[in-house]
This record gives sequence, C-alpha cells and structure tokens, in this order.
Amino acid sequence: MANRRLAPASEQPQTFAFSPENAAWAKTQIAKYPEGRQASAVISLLWKAQEQNGGWLPRAAIEAVAAELGMPNIRVLEVATFYTMFALEPVGRFWIQVCGTVPCDSCGARGLKEMLHDRLGAPGHVSADGNFSWLEVECLGACCNAPMVQINQDYFEDLTPESLGQLMDDLAAGRPVKVGSQTGRVSSEPQGAVNTLTDPSLFDGSRVGAWRKRFEEAGKAEEPAAGATLNTGEAAASAQQAATNPKPARPDAGRAVERTASDAPAQRAANGETPVKPADRADAAERGRSTAKAGAARQGDADVLDSPAKRVAEGEPAAGDQGNQDVPARDAVPQQPEASGASDAEVAAEAEEARVTGALAALPENATPEQKADVVGKRPMALDAARAGKPDDLTRIEGIDSGNSQRLNGLGIYHFDQIAAWSRDEITWVGTYLAFPGRIDREDWVGQAKALAAPAQ
Ligand code: FES
Repeated sequence: MANRRLAPASEQPQTFAFSPENAAWAKTQIAKYPEGRQASAVISLLWKAQEQNGGWLPRAAIEAVAAELGMPNIRVLEVATFYTMFALEPVGRFWIQVCGTVPCDSCGARGLKEMLHDRLGAPGHVSADGNFSWLEVECLGACCNAPMVQINQDYFEDLTPESLGQLMDDLAAGRPVKVGSQTGRVSSEPQGAVNTLTDPSLFDGSRVGAWRKRFEEAGKAEEPAAGATLNTGEAAASAQQAATNPKPARPDAGRAVERTASDAPAQRAANGETPVKPADRADAAERGRSTAKAGAARQGDADVLDSPAKRVAEGEPAAGDQGNQDVPARDAVPQQPEASGASDAEVAAEAEEARVTGALAALPENATPEQKADVVGKRPMALDAARAGKPDDLTRIEGIDSGNSQRLNGLGIYHFDQIAAWSRDEITWVGTYLAFPGRIDREDWVGQAKALAAPAQ
C-alpha cells in the first residue's frame, strides 16, 4: 500500500498560487459545471496544481484549490490523499508508479519492486541524482499486460526486473524508450499464440440454425408426422441461408455501436409507445411487486400477496410445491401470460409518471425545486401561519420526518386537514418539490391525514 501522508513541513512551500495562465485554465474548468457544483472541478485543479509544482502536491496547493472552489480544506485533502495519481511528496524527474495488485503481483511485480528497492531505496525517496522516485500503487488498468509501471504520463508493460532496469538506464541517459508492451504485444492481444475461440465456424455463420436443425432431427426420429416436412424445410432454409449469405456470429464484435442507452418511460411515451413495457407490467402484476400493490399491502390489503402461507391457508399448494408439480411436459405448448394484468390505477400511475418525467426533462438542469413543481402540478393552498399558533405534528404521518415537516411548514402546510384536501395536481406539486416522486401516494399521506384530521369518536 502506498503511504499517503503529506510531505514533512521542512519540504512544504509556504505559499502556492496558480500562474496567470493556469488560473485562467482553472476558470474554464470550473465553468463546465452548473452553479453550486464547482467542487466537481477538484481533480482537474489538483492535477494542474501538481503539474505546476513540479509533479507533486504541497499542502499550500491543496488549500489554494479548496479556496478556489469554496470547499473545506479537508474535503480537498481527502481527494488528494485518496488518488495515488497525486504525489504528496517531492518526486524525481521520472516518477515510477508500480502496480502491486493481484494480476501484476502474480506476473512478477514483486521482482520489479525488489529491483527498485535495491536501486533507489525505500518508496517515496528521490534518488541522489534527482532522476527517480517510486511508489507502489493499486491497479492501473493495464492488467492484461502485467506486470507494468507508469512513469510520469506513460505506461510500460510486460516488464521484467531486467527490462525495467534497462528502461531506467535509457531514461536517465536521455535515450528514446518504447512506451507500452516491452515484449511487442499489441494492445491486449494474447501472449504467444491465439489458443481460444479459434474455430472458424464461430464466425462464418454456419452455426446459425444449427440448434433448430438438431431439435428437428430429434423430433423427426420420434414422430415422423406431417409437420416434420415443414420443419425440415425451415432447417434446410436456415442452412441454405447460412451457406449463401453468411453473417458474422457476433455482428458487433470489435465495432463501436451506438445505441440508445435509455428505455425510460418518458422516452417510450415520446416515441408513441406504451410508457411501461407490457412484459414488465405483466411481470409486476404476477408477482405482486408493483409499487401500488406494495403500498396497498402496507395498509393491510393481504389479498394482493400470493405468499406460500396464504396459499396454504386457502387450501392451495404453497408456491414451492406448486413449482414442483406444475413442471410442464417438454412437448407442451407453453402458456402465454395473460394480457397486461395491471390495474387501471397502475396504468394511470405509470402514465402520470411518464408525463412528469417528460415535463421535467424539458427544464434546464439548474431549475429550482419550485420551478420543477410548477411545470407538473399545482401549488397547494397555503396558510400564513398555523391556526391559533398551533401546528399539527405532521411527523405523525408515516413518511414525514421532522425535516420534511419543516419543509412543509415552509410551504404554509401546518395541518392534517390541509394535506387531507390535496388534489392529484397538488400531490404531484408537493412530491416534485420535495423530490419524492410517487412517495406521497405510496405512503398514502392523504389517507393518513384524513384519519388524523377526523374528529375523535
Ligand atoms: S493489476 Fe496491475 S494494472 Fe491491473
């Protein structure tokens, strides 16, 4: 493990300030992030500070970055001490980071470390000629070509103690060196000969339809009926197509293929599709896992659950037993799931969620909670103050903690009867404002508030 302490005070400069050029660069980095998120530029600025300071980060630079970003010093120190890309002590002209993680260790990293120890001394010390210092670090992501080291900005891979020593001699003498694999491997190709995935039929398309042909032949042997002719014809067609129009078995292999990464309800709605995939809806209905049903279950509606205990109580086999008994015959026609299975309420909730998601997606990233709430719902009626100066204890509603209670008070909501009277649009407004999409319904704040607001019997 790397020692992640700051350099001794005797080596620390008293001050640090970005050069005018670097200060201007820092401003461009900070401007990349939305207001209030300037801390996201911390790694960029630390990296630039390290570069300006000759390859290592003094305490003064860490504090200067903290001041620039309006962050507590400790937060920036945490980042600087976590990532080994930041050197916390002076480094040599060539800073060697040796990967000591398992793949590199298994392939000889210990030999590299021993060589460096013998030649340069303990990690963290600069050699007498000022040329080298070294440090053991965790995986640098070049495991395929282990063992490896990073020297300044470059990776050197497939090393032995001897080749690393030669590399250091060349660097010290100013001779050109070869970056990357020192044994001639290109990228992450196998060491030696290719000895896996060598069957050409994996890639020439001849295997397409092979499984179907096998099953059809097995079926034909068991049941030489009329249908066999049709099946044989399909298999023959598949084989014919494979022969005349071979396709790569892995059409995407080695190519960057851009696909839509998201299949969110809002996107499906925008494409004119049902917001929730019918298969998901049927699955949710079947398992009793939808949020609407989960909420109902919490209110004591046991009918939505299909637990083994409930099935036994009703004289039906428990799910586990049923699973054993209901295994269909291999040749049985699989039953199709019933259409949808989702209730109207679930469908409406999903459509509403898609509407809200779509409306919020159209807002700028820095929209305030109030702006977001205003585009999707209606602000509930507010009171200037609690009636008679006595607000209800809103935390009695399950799901409202003291923080949310204060936020609701800040909106002019003080009493159970106010919450009990919320309309659909008002629930959406509050849920969006509090960043609790769907939670007010799931926890049934309105129902709870009605019960609490009702006069005692
Ligand atoms: S284990 Fe050494 S680079 Fe990943």
